[in-house]
Amino acid sequence: MADKPFLTDIKTLRERARQHIENGAVTEGYSADRETVIKLFNEALATEIVCVLRYKRHYFMASGINAEGAAAEFLEHANDEQGHADQIAQRIVQLQGEPNFNPEGLLMRSHAEYVEGTSLTEMIKEDLVAERIAIDSYREMIRYFGNDDPTSRHMMEGILAVEEEHADDLVTLLVHMH
Ligand SMILES: [Fe+2]
Ligand SMILES: [Fe+2]
Repeated sequence: MADKPFLTDIKTLRERARQHIENGAVTEGYSADRETVIKLFNEALATEIVCVLRYKRHYFMASGINAEGAAAEFLEHANDEQGHADQIAQRIVQLQGEPNFNPEGLLMRSHAEYVEGTSLTEMIKEDLVAERIAIDSYREMIRYFGNDDPTSRHMMEGILAVEEEHADDLVTLLVHMH
């Protein structure tokens, strides 16, 4: 008959909150491995930046060959990925880490690849592959966060849902190519 309280008592909670206040959102109860979380987030940040660059390239190239529908989709995705990069960088700082924006090694840190593609079909296929890579790696991150970092998990769940929409948009584009 172990006496296991459901919540930490108020006195302890209040005392703990007063310690290391410079850590801001990172409290004593943060049970994830912060270093690993920041490393994972920096890889996700690199992935998002590489995706912004690839989508921008595809946007301008598609506009050049009068593929306005695809171009509009590429631009929308580029902007979404930029938003994701910002969210991730913000979270890294909240966790008392530093977002890595160094162009050196960017492709090594990124999970997704940067493929320019020579035809519109190739561009769409490469974007779809990159989305599918992001989807699988983000799903793994979400599983890793579990209940140790619900805020990071929740954020990545939101981003994952958008990547799934992107993949779906791209499949639709691809189908209409044939
Ligand atoms: Fe993204
Ligand atoms: Fe995406």
